[in-house]
Amino acid sequence: MSGAAPAAAPSPARRPPRKRVLAPWKDRQGRFSWMKALVLAAAFVPGLVTVWWATQGQLGGRPVMEAIHQTGLWAVRFLLIALAVSPARAVFDAARVILLRRMLGLTALAYALAHFGLYILYQHGNLATVASEIALRFYLLIGFAALLVLAALGVTSTDAMIRRMGAWWKRLHVLAYPVAAVALLHYFIQTKANVTEAVVFAGFYLWLMGLRLLPAAWRSSPVALLGLAGAAGLATAGVEFAWYAIATGINPWRVLAASETLRYGLRPAHIVALCGLGVAVVAAGRRLLRRLTDGGQMAVSRV
Ligand code: HEM
Repeated sequence: MSGAAPAAAPSPARRPPRKRVLAPWKDRQGRFSWMKALVLAAAFVPGLVTVWWATQGQLGGRPVMEAIHQTGLWAVRFLLIALAVSPARAVFDAARVILLRRMLGLTALAYALAHFGLYILYQHGNLATVASEIALRFYLLIGFAALLVLAALGVTSTDAMIRRMGAWWKRLHVLAYPVAAVALLHYFIQTKANVTEAVVFAGFYLWLMGLRLLPAAWRSSPVALLGLAGAAGLATAGVEFAWYAIATGINPWRVLAASETLRYGLRPAHIVALCGLGVAVVAAGRRLLRRLTDGGQMAVSRV
């Protein structure tokens, strides 16, 4: 060993650039970001709460199944929140929120993987049973397909993969939208009685899709957002009607009639329309504020 010539150290010019791995709470410049740190901490909360409930025996008679439900719900919630990041940037002109998209998408994947892991546990680790259940039950099959695509999106979400894949990266990552639709279908199909939350999620999803279809210049227009809020509310009522008509023996017209009044409390269509209205109001407020500050600055510069 001692006789071997020491390997020549690569000259600084030829040394490959050191890979920069940023901590998830730092921004692209490597500075601490409160926004990222808070969202990262929040991402852990539902998982930790579920573990806490499990240790306290608060997950009911079928704790593993209840944990499957909790992780599935949070996977869909984080997926929808991740999809809402780009629209939030456009509507509120808030460029920095884009830093959160990857973290939120990976959080959705982490909950979906935990969901699948718990399902394997529920089947006592018997992978043959898991595989045959997935092959036999349509809702499990589409859940599995959604998980595979989510995993592909997660694996290719690094900066190095973005550079390496070029234009293909965008093409692949557009699949996040169909994945969310498939995950929602999985949610609907397994729901036994109350589909209220699934319908609300579907309504938010349709609102997001509607926003994507709007011309870019309209996406922060309060009038367009107001129209979108109404359209998303109607579409949500349509989804609920269709679900009851196709999948249940309940009269869908009676369900629809419940959305025409507030006598039965807020129905999914109201919740989606009200949230859409809230976005339109905030966008209008921001526009007004910008006009006022721009006007003030012009007045100062004239003086
Ligand atoms: C291999 C993949 C998957 C398997 C085996 C699986 C399995 C399951 C099972 C067994 C349930 C409970 C059904 C019941 O109560 O009878 C469930 C519910 C659910 N899953 Fe999955 N799932 C998978 C993928 C996914 C993915 C990728 C998502 C979301 C991104 C998801 C979201 C949900 C949701 C939201 C629920 C309903 C929770 C509730 O009603 O409280 N699942 N899944």
